[in-house]
Amino acid sequence: AKHVGILALEVYFPNIYVSQDELEVHDKVAQGKYTLGLGQRCMAFCGDQEDVVSMSLTAVHSLLEKYDVDPKSIGRLEVGTESALDRSKSIKTFLMTLFAEHGNHDIEGVDSLNACYGGTAALFNAVNWVESRAWDGRLAIVVATDIAMYAAGPARPSGGCGAIAMLIGPDAPLDLERGLCASHMEHAYDFYKPCGFYPLVDGKSSVACYLIALDRCYASLCEKFERQRRRATLGNTCTQSNGSPPRFSLADADFCILHSPFVKMVRKGFARLVYQDHLRAKSRNQALQATRAGAASLDAYPADPDAFSPESYSDRGLERAATTASAEAFSRMVQPGLTAAAECGNMYAASVHAGLASLIEAEGTALEGRRVLMYSYGSGLAASLWSLIGRRIDGKFALGSVASKLDIQARLAARRRADPAEFVATLELQERRHGEAGYKPERPISDLRSGTYYLCEVDSLYRRTYARK
Ligand code: ACO
Repeated sequence: AKHVGILALEVYFPNIYVSQDELEVHDKVAQGKYTLGLGQRCMAFCGDQEDVVSMSLTAVHSLLEKYDVDPKSIGRLEVGTESALDRSKSIKTFLMTLFAEHGNHDIEGVDSLNACYGGTAALFNAVNWVESRAWDGRLAIVVATDIAMYAAGPARPSGGCGAIAMLIGPDAPLDLERGLCASHMEHAYDFYKPCGFYPLVDGKSSVACYLIALDRCYASLCEKFERQRRRATLGNTCTQSNGSPPRFSLADADFCILHSPFVKMVRKGFARLVYQDHLRAKSRNQALQATRAGAASLDAYPADPDAFSPESYSDRGLERAATTASAEAFSRMVQPGLTAAAECGNMYAASVHAGLASLIEAEGTALEGRRVLMYSYGSGLAASLWSLIGRRIDGKFALGSVASKLDIQARLAARRRADPAEFVATLELQERRHGEAGYKPERPISDLRSGTYYLCEVDSLYRRTYARK
């Protein structure tokens, strides 16, 4: 199969949110801390009538409906989550109800777990399957679904929730660029969930881990790109004007989607990439405009022989210089993909893919022929940086058609704003529900859009049943 990638995608987020400026007042923190400090506008949250299963049922059903996909044409279904409701039964098995009623039980795949990385692991599995000898000609669906809630304290405003469903197959309008994918994985205790409803999180360490993994992935991706180009150009005259073989820099990409725990994190991550370009350009004595980001203010920072020096991650002057230097590139390459992140907050495993959906809605056919760099980070830790190439195709999976079906902006605008007291009371309810058996949800389904799945009951044996509004 050729040009295997994402044919279409659907995002689900709840119909209620809390506004971050109201949360600042409620939490008695300095004005601007969550909005300017973290870069967040709103946070999506849900009541006890929704959970990660209902959200993924909604996303998959809507994907099948919008694109008129025959459930019998699906041969693989993968789920990424870090909010599993059961330590044995996968969320994928709940989703099988959508396919079993059409007589399709022959669907491979189960759930993938590692913090916010699970959706990316699931995506890679699905793409590899379509490209492999095991492929039987059918399509795959990848789901990422999470409810990201933190205990009261500094991490709470960086929560959120949502789900995404992606249809994977050949001749896709978003082609995963083979050979241009780099990963960084290691053991860390920056964020983990040994017990209880909330994660244990070392916030500052998780921010540093995110940036270090991004740097490592970027260095490796640049190296892979350059090796590939050297091989391709061996024996011909394709070199840069200074005679050296082509180098990779951000100028080779058009858009960048970085996993967004909160928007300021993405801002810091992108500045870091510009800093890495600056180091690479300087150390090779190349022009600074290689970054296309006008890195003049970074000139004060000489090329460091160790691009990963620990001091550089806490150097506020360097961060300010890199942020200034990358301002124009950030608004051009990154901002268009930040709508869902700023409005819904961290969707954990769905976050980076919801960023891609925001970018598609904003750019549509303008993505044809463009390269999108994607960075996925999951604490603990697992991270990958990879590339998608937009392609012109006809029909229902054309980028323009996918963009018009996403409907993110309109759904965001139609949400109900809940006050912080309702948000906190809902979290307390969710805490109580965690691990509880024998109840019917108390929150009303009037809060849900039509077509949304909801939890009907958890019986005394913890068995969950769902219905669609
Ligand atoms: N006006 C404007 N900005 C403000 C204000 C204000 N009144 N007050 C604070 N700020 C800024 C700070 O300067 C800081 O910005 P900077 O990083 O650019 O300096 C920012 O707001 C955050 O404030 P801090 O006091 O530094 O941090 P805080 O203790 O509030 O915690 C943190 C932030 C660590 C990110 C916390 O929200 C957290 O633990 N979140 C969960 C972990 C997380 O998301 N990690 C990211 C990667 S891992 C993952 O994806 C889950």
